[in-house]
Amino acid sequence: MALKLLWLHADGHCQCHLSLLLRLVACLALVLLLPPPPAQAATVVTHLPGFDGPLPFYLETGYVGVEEETGTELFYYFVESERSPRSDVVLLWLSGGPRCSVFSGFVYEIGPVMFVAERYSGGTVPRLEYNPYSWTKLASILFVDSPVGSGFSYAHDPKGYDVGDISSSMQIVKFLRKWLDDHPKYLSNPFYIGGDSYAGKVVPLITQYLSEGIEEMRHPIINLKVGYLVGNPSAGDKIDVNSRVPYSHSFGVISDQLYEAALANCKGDYENPTNKPCTDVMQTINNLMSEVLEPACPFDWPWPMPGRDASNRKSLTEEHYWLGDPPVEPPFSCFAAYRYYLSYFWANDNATRAALGIKEGTVTEWIRCATGLPYTRDLPSSIECHFNVTTRGYRALVYSGDHDPIVPFSGTQAWIRSLNFSIVDDWRAWHLDGQAAGFTIKYANNLTFATIKGGCHIPPENRPKESFIMAKRWLAGGPL
Ligand SMILES: *[C@@H]1O[C@H](CO)[C@@H](O)[C@H](O)[C@H]1NC(C)=O
Ligand SMILES: *[C@@H]1O[C@H](CO)[C@@H](O)[C@H](O)[C@H]1NC(C)=O
Ligand SMILES: *[C@@H]1O[C@H](CO)[C@@H](O)[C@H](O)[C@H]1NC(C)=O
Ligand SMILES: *[C@@H]1O[C@H](CO)[C@@H](O)[C@H](O)[C@H]1NC(C)=O
Repeated sequence: MALKLLWLHADGHCQCHLSLLLRLVACLALVLLLPPPPAQAATVVTHLPGFDGPLPFYLETGYVGVEEETGTELFYYFVESERSPRSDVVLLWLSGGPRCSVFSGFVYEIGPVMFVAERYSGGTVPRLEYNPYSWTKLASILFVDSPVGSGFSYAHDPKGYDVGDISSSMQIVKFLRKWLDDHPKYLSNPFYIGGDSYAGKVVPLITQYLSEGIEEMRHPIINLKVGYLVGNPSAGDKIDVNSRVPYSHSFGVISDQLYEAALANCKGDYENPTNKPCTDVMQTINNLMSEVLEPACPFDWPWPMPGRDASNRKSLTEEHYWLGDPPVEPPFSCFAAYRYYLSYFWANDNATRAALGIKEGTVTEWIRCATGLPYTRDLPSSIECHFNVTTRGYRALVYSGDHDPIVPFSGTQAWIRSLNFSIVDDWRAWHLDGQAAGFTIKYANNLTFATIKGGCHIPPENRPKESFIMAKRWLAGGPL
């Protein structure tokens, strides 16, 4: 009954301006008359298929409705901090794509479990083990499948899938508000939002919406200490794509002659070649960039394969997709790619679905990155949002794996510089175990940029320890 009362207040259906007693009586009467609220269907998960024994952390999954007309519900995995959940940061995390399931963040990046490195031959589900570098040792993490159509998030009405940067960001704000209404014990924790790759483009927009809400006291509930972090973040296609050519040159992937030919023929716009010499040189450059740097893992390299996808623009939305649905088995020797393949069998198993509380008839086939749905890129660039929120006092960490040709660190570094913030802590190495783990610079307005040496497009995937330490130092408020 107490829960139902809370729900009535939360949705504003019981605006009784009476004495507390009268209010209680009135609300009770309403509760008795009304059907039960639509289940915010939370499932406490104590065991996961493939994981040996009870989970050594608190995991809850569930759905939050974000659009009534289309019956849109976003699915989430919430892991409580394994350190001090009462005081640790609550971090809302999003994966890129757009429309890669946040299960990627949960199982390959910063989440508490990972696939055991062994070949899968069917039968039971692929096995999982504990991730020693899980960021859930630092923060409670709310992993959200967004935009709708990612992972287990769904809409009853197909029209619900037609979202874009702006509408999906607004849905996250709504999601968060409702989720916190249902989980009031986290209201006083510092709140952060994070994401990588394409999600890095919308994270500052969502932060801006939240900050506006806080300023107008529409969301007085969220702790003012909101900040954000983004990894190898898309800033807008033009910026990301145009930085790939100078990056590949400085990285020794293309020759001086090719670089000069690109400069002369493309006039700085590598995204949409408008003449044949530019198209030709870009084809050569793309082919060279599709060569594998390290290790020899063709499926792991999220880059357009020659002849498969001539357009760079498309490749960013299709990172890692070429495993197919259902996926083809990649070489086991390339476990980084092989584990993408495993997720399909894990997530589509009935035991998994039962454990996670997946609603029947919603998502019949889970795919890691759902590309076939409409998506509107209606935020051309996120730079202004970064400016808006950092100058409003919200802390930001932008990090880049420096071995990433999709969103090269050089492009990221350049747009950060274009904000014209003064330097507070000048460019220097940051260290781990006596070695440089990357380089960093801190600007005014609490904006930190850091590289992770050797990190790929998603640094926690191949530099888990460095990424973990970086997050730990930054979340604690200190220098890297
Ligand atoms: C899994 O569940 C679906 C839906 O309930 C059912 O149609 C299917 O037969 C089940 N698969 C197995 C292998 O039990
Ligand atoms: C940045 O903030 C200004 C002032 O509040 C606002 O007008 C502008 O739309 C914001 N930019 C973006 C991209 O939302
Ligand atoms: C930077 O962040 C710290 C800690 O949250 C805060 O106290 C300080 O006011 C911020 N500085 C600026 C310039 O926003
Ligand atoms: C940064 O400075 C440059 C050169 O002075 C100027 O063109 C640009 O508009 C400034 N950017 C911002 C965000 O103020």
